[in-house]
Amino acid sequence: MSSIDSIILEALEQVQPSADDVKKLTEIANETLKRVKQSITSKVVDVIIGGSFAKGTWINDDVDIDIFVKFDTSVDDDQFRKLGQLIGWESLRGFDPYVRFSDHPYVEAVIEGVRVNVVPCYDVAIGKWKSAADRSPFHTKYMNDHLDEEKRNHIRLLKRFLKSTGTYGADIATGGLSGYVAEILILKYGSCTKVLNVISSMGPKDNVISIYNRSENKFNFSSPLIIIDPIDHKRNLGAAISAVTLGKLILSARFFLAKPSVDFFCNPKKTIQKYWQFNGNLLVLEFKYENRSPDVLRGQLKKSAIAISKQLELAAFKVFRITCVTDEKGSAAFGYLLESTTLSTYAQKIGPKVLMKKETDNFITENQEESLLSWIDNEMRVRSVTRRRVTDAKEFLEFLLTFKIDSIGITKGLIEDIRRSFQICSGNDLTTSDIIMEAVTDLLTSDQGLL
Ligand code: CTP
Repeated sequence: MSSIDSIILEALEQVQPSADDVKKLTEIANETLKRVKQSITSKVVDVIIGGSFAKGTWINDDVDIDIFVKFDTSVDDDQFRKLGQLIGWESLRGFDPYVRFSDHPYVEAVIEGVRVNVVPCYDVAIGKWKSAADRSPFHTKYMNDHLDEEKRNHIRLLKRFLKSTGTYGADIATGGLSGYVAEILILKYGSCTKVLNVISSMGPKDNVISIYNRSENKFNFSSPLIIIDPIDHKRNLGAAISAVTLGKLILSARFFLAKPSVDFFCNPKKTIQKYWQFNGNLLVLEFKYENRSPDVLRGQLKKSAIAISKQLELAAFKVFRITCVTDEKGSAAFGYLLESTTLSTYAQKIGPKVLMKKETDNFITENQEESLLSWIDNEMRVRSVTRRRVTDAKEFLEFLLTFKIDSIGITKGLIEDIRRSFQICSGNDLTTSDIIMEAVTDLLTSDQGLL
């Protein structure tokens, strides 16, 4: 037996849920199903269990139970959203439910440590989709018709690999592979090792994956990895996968195949740099926010963290790496690893060649007031030295958030939260709150296998 086969066998044993886990989840699922059925109106055609639990592809360290409430197609969109939430609230009453958003709102609660979702969808014929969740019951049936126990376990294994390499989850923050994509990959290629082999040797032209070999990408999807939904070939399941995540996954697959280890299916081995080595490079913004749906929050955080990074770059700070973290309980932080948190007092400006009369005149006029020195270099270009207005990243960010917060691209929903509560620290004065340390750890951690 090759070393890969024996590692896979060892890991397969670890991913199978115990009989106790199965019993506990089945009880929670059945109890919730009963509660939902008691809360429905006449507009509901059926209530079914879906997602990875119904398909037998869940993993025990992160399981959720999805209950789909199928509405009659005569219900309009507004009623669908309202009634969907009402049924969710009613059936999960007593478990502190909250609203989450995918393409439409649904209600979630945690019961005995297990996330339970009550998701509205329409009872449609295949292809006649009215809401994004309508395909899901068809996915469940499709997988249950095609999967055997061996493939189910390989899906679990692949999910664990994706999790441990930070590439699992189709949410915006991760930009990774969804559970359904893991199922499609195992169905198409047969085993976890075969999937990793395909991924590890992906070339620029192998980016379309389809169970039915519809590899020609008829619909001109443009994501780095295109995966056609067998239930709806007009849908690209890879749309959420970012180039960064795909790159991480390809490298992780190569590292695993070159040096197989069960570590790839457990918690990742992280190589964290000592943060005091990066004193002059770290900038962290911490703030508190009013509670909101985790999905909305993640989108807002990411957009705002990138907007601030752009401002830093405009002021000549080179941003090596960005992160945004939240405890999902009201605290968040944006972290930036910079080439340096301070800039030199003087900057050089290189102008056009003097033979370009108009451009040279403009350059001289524009820089007249600021220039401390100007000369012609041996390429016949005008060069000037100016004094920088901004040299300290922390001071600059403080200025931006105090005087310009409305106009620098921070998402509207976070402006008041940040204005009210922001605190900035740089590497030299890092306060060690949990959220700041999480941001710093993120910035100073290498991807698995790269170091
Ligand atoms: N789904 C989808 N596309 C996504 C995410 C989800 O089509 N990007 C559908 C799939 O039908 C999936 C169902 O929604 O089975 C539930 O998704 P989710 O709960 O996010 O994941 P699971 O597939 O259940 O996997 P797990 O809970 O193990 O992470």
